[in-house]
Amino acid sequence: MAADGGPDARPLPAERRADPRTAIVFDTLAGALDQPGRTVVDIGGGTGGSAVRLAASGHHVTVVDPSPDALASLDRRVREAGVGSRLTAHQGDVADLVSLVPEAGADLVLCHGVLEVLDDPAAALDAIVSRLRPGGRLSLVAGQRNALVVARAMAGQFVAARELLDDSAAHGRTGRRFTEAELLDLVGAAGLEVESVHGVRVFADLVPGSLVDAEPGSAAALVELERAVAARAEFRPLATQLHLLARR
Ligand SMILES: C[S@@+](CC[C@H](N)C(=O)[O-])C[C@H]1O[C@@H](n2cnc3c(N)ncnc32)[C@H](O)[C@@H]1O
Repeated sequence: MAADGGPDARPLPAERRADPRTAIVFDTLAGALDQPGRTVVDIGGGTGGSAVRLAASGHHVTVVDPSPDALASLDRRVREAGVGSRLTAHQGDVADLVSLVPEAGADLVLCHGVLEVLDDPAAALDAIVSRLRPGGRLSLVAGQRNALVVARAMAGQFVAARELLDDSAAHGRTGRRFTEAELLDLVGAAGLEVESVHGVRVFADLVPGSLVDAEPGSAAALVELERAVAARAEFRPLATQLHLLARR
């Protein structure tokens, strides 16, 4: 194993596996990244929560993000994790993918929490697909509109909840929200074949944190519950986010 963590795919740290925000996504990615040394691009990778984790598991990761602050935090994280030899960061946005990343080279492109803030999600997906090798995959995480409707209703904002129901331009605090059908259409129009759709945080954002912290083992039990319902169509509409894995 090399001094910076080595080329072998390493198991993921337990505390991160137990995080309801990431467990479902990384369970799915573990299947897609079944061998070390895969080429991964993380568009809008931010402070590198996913990118550093994948680099630590032995993959070669390129992060593209327009935020200098996020990239500075990423740089600190990379140094702490000792993964500098396997992670490259560029300041740029999705339109820069074409100049920053070799054509049709990536085994996997992550687009997590980014589609929401883009003016033209369809154009972004076209740019992403152009960087995927044939058979390469897109991992897409995006905020779901239904969850925002539920959140508004639970806050007593019933009129706002009603208005959101059919508003395809609906925005939450962190940008636009999508329905599952809208995401499937976008990904299909980009020429990708959807392999799986999972709900992320079906319950986690509905449960008060005090309940999760109340009993030892509750947090882990919540994650197991999330895992149990993530792929169930009847629970997916409640999820804060949807995770789609799609193949070129
Ligand atoms: C909600 S954060 C998600 C960060 C990370 N992907 C994650 O899952 O934790 C959204 C990220 O998208 C980046 N971003 C904003 N506009 C972008 C654009 N036009 N192209 C690429 N990334 C963009 C932001 O700088 C930010 O780091």
